[in-house]
Amino acid sequence: MSVIRWRWWTGAAPAADEAGTTGPADAHVGAAASGAAAPGAAAPGAAAEALPTGRDLADLARRLHAALTEGATTIELDVPDPDAVDDAGAAVGPVAGRWRGWFDLAELLGCRLEAPRSLGGGRVALRLVPLPPEADWHGKAAAGATGAAASERYADPAGFGAVRKLDHPGFLLPLLEALERVRPPDGGRVLVLGCHRGDEVAALGLLDPPPVGVDVVGVDHAESALAEAARRFPAARFLRRDVADLPPELGRFDLVVAVAVLQSPAVDDRALLRRLVQAHLTPAGALLLGLPNGRFRDREPVWGARTRNYREPDLSLVVRDLAVYRRYLHQHGFRTHVGGRYDLLLSAWRGARQA
Ligand SMILES: C[S@@+](CC[C@H](N)C(=O)[O-])C[C@H]1O[C@@H](n2cnc3c(N)ncnc32)[C@H](O)[C@@H]1O
Repeated sequence: MSVIRWRWWTGAAPAADEAGTTGPADAHVGAAASGAAAPGAAAPGAAAEALPTGRDLADLARRLHAALTEGATTIELDVPDPDAVDDAGAAVGPVAGRWRGWFDLAELLGCRLEAPRSLGGGRVALRLVPLPPEADWHGKAAAGATGAAASERYADPAGFGAVRKLDHPGFLLPLLEALERVRPPDGGRVLVLGCHRGDEVAALGLLDPPPVGVDVVGVDHAESALAEAARRFPAARFLRRDVADLPPELGRFDLVVAVAVLQSPAVDDRALLRRLVQAHLTPAGALLLGLPNGRFRDREPVWGARTRNYREPDLSLVVRDLAVYRRYLHQHGFRTHVGGRYDLLLSAWRGARQA
């Protein structure tokens, strides 16, 4: 357990007897710890050194990164309260964008930002705690699983089964926006592929107003997830099948939704897309395809698609897939829109739907 406490100040210099009094310190790092002037911080009793904001932030980020690499388990920062500082100038501090900036910094460093604690005097204590590695279900071993292990990969109640995407604004709001764009008509038919416990079915009911009398069919190969979906949505029909093996008698739909399933192992996404367009859409039917653009770490989504074996986000594969899907859809008379955050959402429609 290694806890690091830093005091970060900008603008007016702190009083001499104030410097370094950031609570019981296991280790003080940076200006408060060393007593030396760090970029963006004032030496005790000295006037604050005015440095370009970019350089302040870069330096802070580097120090945080180094501390985390050296094994810090918690970093406590004593910083100007972002709600109290003056936006109009250097006094904003090293992290612009108020709380948003601190959230982004924490996420980019692979940390959770805990709820801030007021220290009084216009300062707050922030705690950054490193997130655990990404969840097992993203892993290589899980990807190589076969048979029941493969189909139940997302069923673990302590794993993906506990994820509640619709409780997270970064999933819910873009999903609702995309669904609105491809909204099915009242009384229409909707096919949800990789429906898991039925979250996309639930999202349809959250539209304002929700479409009325829609006939929903969900398809997944995970038995336990389907059982939960059937309990939640007794009016819908759920089929246990491989999405690559949709029976022709399933018929045609006004909307096909497939979120975070096209890139699943053993799914030929291009072939599935062709089949959906050719055999399962009505002439005015629409599509909503979601491609994961993040990873869960302790049920917390972290933005950015990862290429297997690479820690850093690399969006090249997801961008390539989106480009391929869009080209095919445009060739078949669709208009498209790409949005989303932790899932990138490609909506596609023909005719006079809303843009
Ligand atoms: C990452 S989860 C996504 C669930 C849900 N759509 C969401 O976005 O929260 C992938 C889902 O697709 C299902 N799945 C993956 N490959 C499949 C396949 N070949 N056939 C049927 N279902 C599949 C899994 O069982 C799982 O429920």
